[in-house]
Amino acid sequence: MLENNRFDSKANIKRGEVASMLYHYLSSNTSGQPEPAAGGKILVAYFSATNTTRPLAEYAADILSADLYEIVPEDPYTDADLAYYTNGRADREQNDASARPAISGIVENMADYDVIFLGYPIWHGQAPRIISTFLESYDLTGKTIIPFCTSHSSGIGSSDTSLHSLASGANWLAGRRFAGGTTRSAMEDWISGLDLPEPEAVVDAVTSATSKAGFNFETKSVTLNSGYEMPINGLGTYSLHGETCVNAVKSALASGVRLIDTATAYGNEEEVGQAVREAMEELGLQREDIFVITKIYPGSEMANPEQSIQACLDRLDLGYVDMMLLHHPDRNDVKAYQAMEKFVENGKIRSLGLSNWYVKELEEFLPQVPITPALVQNEIHPL
Ligand SMILES: Cc1cc2nc3c(=O)[nH]c(=O)nc-3n(C[C@H](O)[C@H](O)[C@H](O)COP(=O)(O)O)c2cc1C
Repeated sequence: MLENNRFDSKANIKRGEVASMLYHYLSSNTSGQPEPAAGGKILVAYFSATNTTRPLAEYAADILSADLYEIVPEDPYTDADLAYYTNGRADREQNDASARPAISGIVENMADYDVIFLGYPIWHGQAPRIISTFLESYDLTGKTIIPFCTSHSSGIGSSDTSLHSLASGANWLAGRRFAGGTTRSAMEDWISGLDLPEPEAVVDAVTSATSKAGFNFETKSVTLNSGYEMPINGLGTYSLHGETCVNAVKSALASGVRLIDTATAYGNEEEVGQAVREAMEELGLQREDIFVITKIYPGSEMANPEQSIQACLDRLDLGYVDMMLLHHPDRNDVKAYQAMEKFVENGKIRSLGLSNWYVKELEEFLPQVPITPALVQNEIHPL
């Protein structure tokens, strides 16, 4: 989705990824300090007798921002217990389908988890019996369980499907076997290809954050954190120039569109300003009726932000701009944003925002600026 830190508009993007981006952005608090990722709804539970499965479980928990739980036997396995084909303890347990080795401790808040990744070593083609103990200790109805395992050489075989009857109300996804020493990025590839349910926390956060932001779907507007109201729909003016631009903007305004989006990079701020002024005159609109967004560009514009911002205001010639965005991340983006904050103080810009900023960039950027951006304008092609 992100290539060279730029959005690849042709890449497929899952609804969950959009929700996750929205969650991360919308749930950041008003001080601009990002809060921790959702987590908590995914559990990575694992048993590892000789520490081969353990790092994979740790990678998974880290990648998923999930909680990690080690299934620890009440009676630890000794080397002799684990020596296979000796009729030792592990061999005997695997030969006895009813064996249920006791687990030390319990997952107190199992009800909180929607998704459980379950890691184990292959023992004689199956999951160790302690995994059966684990599954039978909880009501896992409705939870999604994704088994993963390590082995010396065997595949996952029937070790995952044999577990289904122990938690028959769960939604079991196909398991996956990994070799010892599997890398974090291999785990990442596997996890990113899974069709996981959207954690309720993400959906709830998006719903509550969007309602806090003040969306009004009747008036098709949103009240921003700056207190100003912004229309939800608008006209983007990229590639419109000269008379075509003026006519397009005026027609849009005549048809009821109330948000016009431009940028210095589009090279048409003068035409947009002219169209807005003429439409106000011809349609009897007030300046406050129309919401104009512009953006300043990385490179020399962000290196000299005061000058660039003033140049935008001069080209638009509308008295003030409703919203100004930084068009892309840049090495001077914090400096440029701070300059925009000064123009907010003197009333020349009403709201601030960002464009083409994704989770990683937001996490770095937000703690450095006092005014939380009112908008993150990103290109998304969900279908
Ligand atoms: C009792 C026992 C039985 C095993 N059976 C198999 C097996 O059937 N196939 C296989 O490839 N490896 C088998 N192994 C090897 C483990 O699956 C492998 O070393 C695994 O990665 C260990 O994971 P852990 O270190 O997380 O416990 C067995 C190991 C033990 C102790």
